[in-house]
Amino acid sequence: MNGLRAVGIIGTGKYVPEKILTNSDLEKMVDTNDEWIVSRTGIKERHIAAPEQATSDLAYEAAIKALESAGMTADQIDLIIVATVTPDTFFPSTACILQDKLGAKNAAAFDLSAACSGFVYSLATATNFIKTGMYNNALIIGADCLSRITDYTDRNTCVLFGDGAGAVVIGEVPEGRGFQSFDLGAEGSGGPLLNLAGGGSRLPSSPETIQDKNHFIYMNGREVFKFAVRVMGSATEAVLTKAGKTKEDIDLFVPHQANIRIIQSAMNRLDLPPEKCIINVDKYANTSAASIPLALVEAAEQNRMKEGDTILMVGFGGGLTWGACVLVW
Ligand code: ACO
Repeated sequence: MNGLRAVGIIGTGKYVPEKILTNSDLEKMVDTNDEWIVSRTGIKERHIAAPEQATSDLAYEAAIKALESAGMTADQIDLIIVATVTPDTFFPSTACILQDKLGAKNAAAFDLSAACSGFVYSLATATNFIKTGMYNNALIIGADCLSRITDYTDRNTCVLFGDGAGAVVIGEVPEGRGFQSFDLGAEGSGGPLLNLAGGGSRLPSSPETIQDKNHFIYMNGREVFKFAVRVMGSATEAVLTKAGKTKEDIDLFVPHQANIRIIQSAMNRLDLPPEKCIINVDKYANTSAASIPLALVEAAEQNRMKEGDTILMVGFGGGLTWGACVLVW
């Protein structure tokens, strides 16, 4: 195939923090109830990082497992990308912090910011480095601690988010397998619908930004919902066309786990039966960049993929952004 190497997933790992926050816990914190949360979102519980845990700690646990599953040591990794919107610090990047923790001394390292689409954006980026021969192996982690930027007095958002990390090692695979196509996109005009306004160069941290709650996620849920349904459909169709495949070819659908109704609308559009879709939003809620890899890794743990299966991953998120890919396992 055009002289470039085939690139695919050769190791997987995931981590979620121990602490579980249930819907009934949230009932004691804000004016909400389990019935509302489950019927509107499908979420029953979410995992929350311990006070001493930062995003790199979650990423580290997932990365160690991914390396182990690939049968590789950290020094064999040429590139680390951490997809996150909740880095440990502005800089150094979480990827550099992780590189040091892992002892991945031969790896270049950077973070990638595309919110919930970040994992697919990162896969596309690293795949091209490997395809062209610049690198051999890359460690891609989607990791977020959304609990650190969630306002637990705002019922519109606090029921939706959780913390976690999913990691994959990617490298050369036999011809015909691996990533077949990507579809990435952005609609920057929709940025204000889903953002965290404070603490950057536009609105530096100050007593006022804290008072105005500018360090928490703001979301216009209804508009993001409409965007999500639209792009989940269009990105899925685009990425299938690029791969020369049709919806009938999909063996496993791995959507971003934000809301069960968004997932179901995508499944209806694809005429997919439930057994072809991985859903774990009930256990983890929306973990942003960790969402797709957590679902993928869980599917692998449950032996839901076999060699040669066609897997379609698709997500959307802040930016606004979207990302989809077709992978032959
Ligand atoms: N408990 C009880 N009532 C609530 C809650 C809650 N937790 N939250 C909102 N409500 C109320 C609202 O106040 C509103 O009341 P009102 O009619 O009296 O004003 C009512 O419920 C209905 O609110 P809607 O916004 O219309 O509810 P909707 O059906 O749209 O569901 C939701 C809201 C779940 C947020 C939905 O819009 C959604 O999932 N949007 C997409 C969110 C998403 O996917 N975000 C991705 C983020 S990705 C990233 O980058 C982090």
